[in-house]
Amino acid sequence: ADLYGEARKNSEGMEFGYSAERLALVDGMAKTEFPAVRARPLGKGLQAKGAERPVLSPADGKSIAGSVQEATVDQVGAIFDTASKGFERWSRTPVEDRAAAIAKLGDLLEENRDRLMAILAKEGGKCLVDGIAEIREAVDFCRYYAAQARVLFGEGTLMPGPTGEEDRYRHRGRGVFVCISPWNFPLAIFLGQVTAALVSGNAVIAKPAEQTPLIAYEAFRLLHKAGVPEDAALFVPGDGAVGAALVKEPRIAGVAFTGSTETAWAINRTLAEKRGPIVPLIAETGGINAMLVDATALPEQVTDDVIMSAFRSAGQRCSALRILYLQDDVADKLVAMVKGAAAELKLGDPADPATDIGPVIDMEARDNLMAHVEEMKKSQKIAYAGQVPDGAYVDGSWVAPHIIELDKPEALTREVFGPILHVVRYKAADLPKVLDRIDATGYGLTLGVHSRIDATVKTVVDRLSVGNVYVNRNIIGAVVGTQPFGGSGLSGTGPKAGGPAYLTRFALEQVVSINT
Ligand code: NAD
Ligand code: ALA
Repeated sequence: ADLYGEARKNSEGMEFGYSAERLALVDGMAKTEFPAVRARPLGKGLQAKGAERPVLSPADGKSIAGSVQEATVDQVGAIFDTASKGFERWSRTPVEDRAAAIAKLGDLLEENRDRLMAILAKEGGKCLVDGIAEIREAVDFCRYYAAQARVLFGEGTLMPGPTGEEDRYRHRGRGVFVCISPWNFPLAIFLGQVTAALVSGNAVIAKPAEQTPLIAYEAFRLLHKAGVPEDAALFVPGDGAVGAALVKEPRIAGVAFTGSTETAWAINRTLAEKRGPIVPLIAETGGINAMLVDATALPEQVTDDVIMSAFRSAGQRCSALRILYLQDDVADKLVAMVKGAAAELKLGDPADPATDIGPVIDMEARDNLMAHVEEMKKSQKIAYAGQVPDGAYVDGSWVAPHIIELDKPEALTREVFGPILHVVRYKAADLPKVLDRIDATGYGLTLGVHSRIDATVKTVVDRLSVGNVYVNRNIIGAVVGTQPFGGSGLSGTGPKAGGPAYLTRFALEQVVSINT
């Protein structure tokens, strides 16, 4: 139970060892035939105008996951016309009904789990363990926000006031919210934004990442099936230019964005240049996430947690570990252990339960990552360079795990979004300098600390303004309602997704004072 009552429970996990559950998942996924989806804009009266293009699997660069017909920039005005009308009705729909539709979506996601997983694997290269966790997170967002909305958007709270006056504090929707999401959590983040905005009484225009329109389309059809009207929730597949045009529209009431810091800056600039109402921006962005390991840490635990944090989802999580600080007394041993464990990771078909690492999202990502490795080779030590297996996936976008030892942390100047771990050695006496350095990056998304000295843990945690700090464990996989997720500084504005304050940023506060 949490703030929102005994009734709310997170979704059930599953057994990934060789089990009946796993076999059932694989059988269920096999029922999805590819090309599986023809994605197009969705919403009342919204016609597809753009050209249809195939969406190829990143695993082989040629098999067709589905196709998409994107919206065009000249449709943006009509999209807002529809959403503005949709808002009038949806914002007056009782919160019970809004919440029921969003909770129903959670159920539909669970019922369609196998098909959603098959599409996540084919279109996004997600391995089973990551894809199932993502589907569960999407389900949890639905149930958590539905439960929260019932409390927040009810009759409101009576405030203390003078006799003869009733002062009621309440929340309501703001208008038309634009939700723009990244490809790396194309279901959970996409739906997290959309469901939060909708359940709060806003109409939503949702633009998925151009790399992953199919899973988003599939989810949106379930959203409409769950009872959200087609003029209150509009699906607008398109590239960054479509996103930019949506953000420019004068009738926009708010933006929920997750993606790179650069794009968040661009959106912020557009909003700042607008005349008219000041539009709130929720931006959740990247990080140069660090983990500190001192000489008291348990080596086996550290190894597991580093491998998971740096290489799960092929390192394509905003929360993933980018720079590992090892106290020099234990560094040799730990580097050897992490290298050994990295060499055991199996790259392969994301839909195969034995696979640990799938492809990166596309060739552009692959080329950027490999260019980074080449650049680092000139001045830094490549401690481990994994190999992509020969054969089946020659045209896919594959990057094997790499470990790069940096002579100084300043050598890493940006978020490197893939399975590339950087390691820096430090002396115990230099811990304050290490903390200053982490702080100086300006990012503040996730942080790991491995130490059995409570005072060290406290020093680190108190010094850094990082959104999610994990002690003696891995640093990924925040759980809805347990680890509300989001960063500070260059990593985002907050409020934290899956946390008690998230919906309030989608809502307008109102006080009604009645002279009785
Ligand atoms: P991106 O910024 O390139 O794209 C994100 C979305 O913005 C896409 O839908 C894209 O089409 C759209 N977009 C691009 N230019 C735009 C513009 N000018 N105006 C409006 N929309 C525009 O990011 P990405 O490569 O898709 O995602 C990876 C990034 O997302 C990484 O930096 C990662 O750390 C970050 N991320 C952060 C979180 C978090 O919760 N903090 C979660 C996941 C990913
Ligand atoms: N919420 C995701 C995680 O914690 C990004 O890994």
